[in-house]
Amino acid sequence: MLSIRSNKMHDFAPQPMLSKPALYAELNAAADAITAGEPDAVANMANVAALLWQFLPRLNWAGFYRMVVGELVLGPFCGKPACVRIPLGQGVCGTAAAAGATQIVPDVHAFPGHIACDAASRSELVVPILREGAAIAVIDLDSPEPARFDGEDAAGIEALAALLSTRL
Ligand code: SME
Repeated sequence: MLSIRSNKMHDFAPQPMLSKPALYAELNAAADAITAGEPDAVANMANVAALLWQFLPRLNWAGFYRMVVGELVLGPFCGKPACVRIPLGQGVCGTAAAAGATQIVPDVHAFPGHIACDAASRSELVVPILREGAAIAVIDLDSPEPARFDGEDAAGIEALAALLSTRL
């Protein structure tokens, strides 16, 4: 079965003019389909980063940081090259991982300790992927638009994080 899956072409595309909850439902259904039965974490994060980039408008960065020996290390992403290591508790990503809680940052310049990887970023959403209560990774979205992310974005990405909890 895996050999069949690995050769399959994936042709996902969001329908136009969807509400945000409907867009996230489509994104997460695609993420579910593309990661189901695939045990390789890098492959799954790479495909989901590509889906985030394809489905969500007005982003300049979308991807993963993984918890590796007590710090966050860059994972698969779309966007400009980014900082590689983020200590737990630092930046938006390290704060989300340490607190085990979603961070919606409407203005990155107002977030104490924000780590600027791309000068174009104005707002950010970071959602931890939790396993047995601890963060194993975070999903990080950056936008060049101030206040790009709201509670509906957070709910959609939290549902994605729950899905990926057992697939990384
Ligand atoms: N801004 C993040 C760093 C990662 S980049 O945005 C890709 C932070 O403050 O943790």
